[in-house]
Amino acid sequence: MNLTRGIYIIGTDTGVGKTAVAAGLMCLLLKNKCRAGYFKPVASGVKVVDGVSVSADAAFVNVVSGFAQKPEQVTPFVYADAVSPHLAARMAGRPIDRNVIRRSLDELKIRYDWIVAEGAGGLAVPLNDEEFMQYDLIRELKFPCLLVARAGLGTINHTLLTLGFAKSAGLTVRGIIINGMGDSLIERDNAETIKKMSGVEAVFTLPIVSSLNTETLQTGNLGEIFEQTVRFDDIISTMDII
Ligand SMILES: Nc1ncnc2c1ncn2[C@@H]1O[C@H](COP(=O)(O)OP(=O)(O)O)[C@@H](O)[C@H]1O
Ligand SMILES: [Mg+2]
Repeated sequence: MNLTRGIYIIGTDTGVGKTAVAAGLMCLLLKNKCRAGYFKPVASGVKVVDGVSVSADAAFVNVVSGFAQKPEQVTPFVYADAVSPHLAARMAGRPIDRNVIRRSLDELKIRYDWIVAEGAGGLAVPLNDEEFMQYDLIRELKFPCLLVARAGLGTINHTLLTLGFAKSAGLTVRGIIINGMGDSLIERDNAETIKKMSGVEAVFTLPIVSSLNTETLQTGNLGEIFEQTVRFDDIISTMDII
């Protein structure tokens, strides 16, 4: 019997810190001797590493966690153009196939006991021109979700909208990470309000990490800061058997 546990990192928007959180979580799991793998089924935007084209997000997670997974295992659908997946797939002439994604996940489940998956952009993102949406994929793969939200002005609205939408799409959000958390009145109140109004028990905050840039593969000390601010026991309790 396979008892792999997983979490799907989703965001209130693109660029909110899903990759930073995925990399921090991978680091934390590996440090605690968990057999953990990263999964980014659909990626747009590539980096050439050692002459091979890989998803920029997967490259960053590899650098932070120090764990070099084979790119083709991690990212079945990777597109060079950093545009919405349905458009990237259309431009490349290679449509996204849910069966291929399912097979990639099945292989990862044989290899790993813990899987950290990352979405592309927000939840209501089309994956093809036939209304196959990112939330359909996550529901089909039976992952619980961890929602990454910004810390500043506007985040209460984006977070509550995403939570309501996730629920209506049949997804379970097990945790929220408020990312880039500072010490201003607005940020502190946002975190408190989200804790109170979201109905989600596990709400974490991750501070601003200096010299962090997922695009240029600058890690700052993300691994250490993530470990200091997100308790291992709390975060793994959001990961369910998939
Ligand atoms: N905790 C953080 N501290 C500082 N900068 C951050 C943090 N999280 C994200 N960023 C910045 O935001 C950018 C986008 O983050 P990323 O994780 O790639 O977002 P997503 O995966 O949601 O598109 C990063 O390149 C980095 O510059
Ligand atoms: Mg990302």
